[in-house]
Amino acid sequence: MASLRSLTFARSAGSLARSLSRSSSTKAGAGLARSRAALLAGSAAVGLTGYGIYKSLSRTTQDDIIATVQAAVPNNTLSAAGPPQSQDSVWSPGKDHALYLWIHLKPGANLKEVSKVCAKLPKMVDTVVDPTMKDEDDEVLAGVGFGPNFYAQVAGKTKKNFVYPHRKGAIGDMPSSGGDVFIHAKSNQVSKLFELASMFLRSLPKDSVESAEDIYSFVYQNGRDLSGFIDGTENRADDEGRQEVAIEKETGGSYVITQKWIHDLDVINSEKSKTLESWVGRDRGDSTELSRKSITSHVARMTGGNGFQQPKPVEIVRQSMPFGTVSGEAGLFFIGYAADPNNFEFMLDRMVGAGGDGHHDDIMRLSKNVKGTYWYFPGAQELAKLA
Ligand code: HEM
Repeated sequence: MASLRSLTFARSAGSLARSLSRSSSTKAGAGLARSRAALLAGSAAVGLTGYGIYKSLSRTTQDDIIATVQAAVPNNTLSAAGPPQSQDSVWSPGKDHALYLWIHLKPGANLKEVSKVCAKLPKMVDTVVDPTMKDEDDEVLAGVGFGPNFYAQVAGKTKKNFVYPHRKGAIGDMPSSGGDVFIHAKSNQVSKLFELASMFLRSLPKDSVESAEDIYSFVYQNGRDLSGFIDGTENRADDEGRQEVAIEKETGGSYVITQKWIHDLDVINSEKSKTLESWVGRDRGDSTELSRKSITSHVARMTGGNGFQQPKPVEIVRQSMPFGTVSGEAGLFFIGYAADPNNFEFMLDRMVGAGGDGHHDDIMRLSKNVKGTYWYFPGAQELAKLA
């Protein structure tokens, strides 16, 4: 039998995510009120009357609308009383697709100008999806994060340091690839994510981007990793739990790990299920935790020991999803949010054999990590201040 958590996850994962209502949360309510205010201002200013009209507007007209909405909505809309809010991507449930946009800037890029564009991300989302008409099926939930050097220069110090070292491991390394700006966005329509990525990159100051990689992910077999295992079973399923794990209370900010993993599909397709299960520490069919598992199994590495239902010393909110092509590379885009970046450190050290007991993580037998770093996703009010 699957554990209650895994059943809850199965409902919250992928295409079934829509069944989870976000409307009960104060965060979603605030977001809606914000979007409504923005749209009312925009509609009043340009006389929009309906979705059809909005959708058929030319690109130039849409750019005009962005400009009008930006002018009409004061930046202090977000600084109303109440606890600091996080950005929309941080703890919201998954959608059918996600965008992971990883940007390196040129050394001479104007960081102030770049950060102003980043602060407009919520407004870009409202341009891609009409905020008065959207529902859970076509909404886009997005957030933007910054590398430590970038954020220090445009906004100052974060409460906690977040530096991602290169890690060498016995059965695989974790290279530190750095980066300046990262967008995580979720939607049931991949075309909306493409549109957002393209609008964001086009809005950046000319000649400021050194390199950018946009990855579009998909829900596989109702919430499984490409290895066939259900991914996300032990994630907190409730909104409050995810907020508690992911959000820094004082700022509404969140620390984020991103890692690109390329799976070895030959290994996955040729190894026996029992072997793969011993590497993960869970049943491949229903995700039940193995009562006896190796100290090198992924679950034992992540929880700090190989006891059954080991108490977790630290937690993160994982929002990883499969990506790739059959003819080329495919794997898992790993993304996790936490109120404290030390939670990632604990896990990564234990994966590469630097966790004190010298053991590595067997998950690295089926996948290779090719890229990784940490980001800070400022709280919504902190982001608005960058405008
Ligand atoms: C190729 C890369 C990875 C794959 C395929 C993978 C897959 C899985 C699977 C199948 C599970 C068991 C079900 C679940 O609870 O979700 C799991 C659990 C977990 N993974 Fe990963 N994972 C990968 C990388 C990572 C990384 C890099 C981290 C941390 C930085 C991580 C953190 C966790 C945590 C915290 C759990 C829950 C453990 C528990 O409480 O039982 N995973 N992962």
